[in-house]
Parts: sequence; C-alpha cells; structure tokens
Amino acid sequence: MHVVLGVGGGIAAYKAAELARSLMRQGYTVNPVLTRSACEFITPLTFAALTGRKVITDLFGNRSADEILASSVEHIQVAQENQVLVVAPATADLLAKFAHGLADDFLSTLYLAFAGPVVLAPAMNTNMWNHPATVANMATLRARGHRIVGPDAGELACGTVGPGRLAELDQIVAAVNAAALNRDDLSGEVVLISAGPTQEPLDPVRYITNRSSGKMGYALAEAAAARGARVILVSGPVHIPVPPGVEIVDVRSAHEMRDAIVGRMDEASIIIKSAAVADYHVANVSPNKIKKTATRLSLDLDPTPDILAEVGARKGDRLLIGFAAETNDMVAEARRKMQTKKADMVVGNFVNVAGTGFESDLNEVTLVMSTGETVPVARATKREIAHTIFDHALRLRLALHASQ
Ligand code: CTP
Repeated sequence: MHVVLGVGGGIAAYKAAELARSLMRQGYTVNPVLTRSACEFITPLTFAALTGRKVITDLFGNRSADEILASSVEHIQVAQENQVLVVAPATADLLAKFAHGLADDFLSTLYLAFAGPVVLAPAMNTNMWNHPATVANMATLRARGHRIVGPDAGELACGTVGPGRLAELDQIVAAVNAAALNRDDLSGEVVLISAGPTQEPLDPVRYITNRSSGKMGYALAEAAAARGARVILVSGPVHIPVPPGVEIVDVRSAHEMRDAIVGRMDEASIIIKSAAVADYHVANVSPNKIKKTATRLSLDLDPTPDILAEVGARKGDRLLIGFAAETNDMVAEARRKMQTKKADMVVGNFVNVAGTGFESDLNEVTLVMSTGETVPVARATKREIAHTIFDHALRLRLALHASQ
C-alpha cells in the first residue's frame, strides 16, 4: 500500500525521517512530499535514501522548464496512486492552508486533489496551537473526518512547556494503519489479549517453555488497534515488535500472566487468550543453579492456574475468546474447552500441519462458537485470520445480545 508522507517546515521535521522508516516496517511504500520550508530543516536526500522513492519538493532550482511543465499534473497522479495522506509535522501554516483550501504549493494542492483518508500530526509552539485561528482551523479539519494525532504536551524545542510536541511515532503509525483499513468497528472497545509462551523456571538459569512465537496474538493486537480499539497486550517472552499504538505488559510465568490478565480484565470489553500457557510449573524452584550429578534428575510439577477458566467464571458480559492448539480431534476439543472454560468462542488449530501454527506467518483455524456455529477459516496470513476472528466476534456478540 502506498502512502504520502507530507512533511511541513517545523523543527519536528527531523522526526519524519524516522516515521518514514516506521511506516516502511509496516509494509507501506512511502512517498515523501516536503514543503519548501521543510527542506530548510531536513534534506530531500535523507528521505530519498531512506525510502528509495522520488521525493517531491517545491524547490524548482535544479529543474528544467520541461520538468516543471511535466510535473504540473503530478499532484493529481500522486493523489490517485496513494491510499493515505499523512502529514507530520503538520505546521500551523499547513493546517490553515488545508482548512481554507489554499493551494499554493505541492502539498496543499495535493491535499485538495486527494480523496482518501488523511492523518494529521500537528506540531508547533504552544501559543500557536492555542491561538483561536489554529483552534478554528482544527475544528474545521476534525469536522472533515481527518484523523488528528497529538500534539503531545511536554518540553518544546523553543523552551516552553505545553501542548505542541509531535505525537509519538507509533501513535502516528497506528493512525495510518487505522486510516488504511478505513474501519472503526472496534472504536470504544478495550481489547485485552494474551500472547506468546510462558517460561516456568527450574533454577536461576533454566526454564520450561513451548514453541509459541506470539505471532497470532500480536496480529490480533495489531488488527484490533487498526480497527480503533484500545489494546492491552499481555505477552510472554517473544522476539517480535509490539504493534504500534498497543500497550504492552511483559510477563514470564503463567502466574505472572494470570495476575496481569485478572488485574486488567475489568477494563476490557473483549478478552482474547491466545497465549500458550504452561499447564505445569516447577514445584520447588531451586534458588541456586542445579548441579549435574551422575543420577537421574526428576522434577516435581504442579498445575498452573487455568487463566481462561478463571476469566470465564467472572467475565460478565465481556466477550471471551480462547484458543485450542491440538494434534487430534480439534473441533471436539475446541468445543469442550469452550464449554468447560465458559468462553464465547474458541479458535481451534492443528499444530501438526506443515506450514501453519507455531512460528509460522500462516494459520488455518476453525472458529467454534457458543451459538453452536462452527466456521472453518482457510489458510491465510495471521493478520488476515486476526481480522476474520474480529469479524466473527462482533457478529457473535450481536447474536448473543439478541438472544438474551
Ligand atoms: N489457558 C489458560 N491457562 C492455562 C492453560 C491454558 O488460560 N493454564 C488457555 C490458553 O490461553 C488457551 C486455552 O486455555 O486460550 C486452551 O489452552 P490449551 O493449552 O489448549 O488448553 P488446556 O486446558 O491446557 O487443555 P489440554 O492441555 O488438555 O489440551
């Protein structure tokens, strides 16, 4: 997917270079457009080198008359070729131009020609932000349905303290994700997700764990955030980046995961337990490193708390979704777990199918629902599966409410 990154002429322009990289990490092709004054703060070359794309500026200096003529319809072409327009930093001047429909440079002309979703990340001095002119312009831009991210409050480059700082980059990326998806059906929801494996220590240097990569849970977190939810992700140890805009709570053992989930569940409207929680922990964790001997070593294991069952027992009207990773009788096992743990849906998957499940980017699942419905979901990326799970979860909740 292509996005235009419009860069205004403010001191925060240097952060737009890092934003370009963050957007590329999400899989976007980033097409930078710098205003003339942005080029005073950061060079087009920086963006060309980072994105590998042509950088559009308002500097005519090095261009021939032919090139300038050829570019006279470029704003229309760029408007058609990109799915999202994100402007960061959006200066007071740019906001005023956008609000009033002025078109005296490339970015403001592009804005008028662009029909897709717009994300604005304002950054400026606090007095400029609070000025009635800017306040009125922001009201106009909000009313147009643009996504506004920030500004954050804090110490500004000019030395004052107050609102005006460019929003955190992952908040801007999250807004671009949401704009790209153009769906807000989880807005107002708080989604609590557990992901990854747990680690159960034997001694200070060793632990028992499993092969969960956390990819499915992280894909669910990313999908929920893109659809407008506030997301709390309780994660065991994994090696993948936290999706933009998602609050992360790091845990290790099943007991820590239990405390984090139970401690945050009251905030949530949807709870998804995708973590592969250890069913047992070592009864007597050795305070010192266990030494090798010539004889057999036995470990005493005690059951861990069943978090899904505990949440199920006191979930109220929260929607609760569990997972069942199975090697046999997947649908029957998923249904049994759904009933015994009082979940509304269990996502069943075979862990012994080549190319899917643990560690893979793909999955193939069956959704077992408390309405009696069973929905097979064909092999797809975990990101696509995550959206399908939310599609069915929202439908299921409507059906459950209707039947009450
Ligand atoms: N689960 C949990 N707490 C545990 C074990 C599992 O919350 N101590 C959750 C998992 O996050 C998942 C669901 O329960 O959503 C099913 O996990 P699974 O390990 O397949 O279920 P178990 O009840 O442990 O079943 P079994 O070992 O008999 O297959």
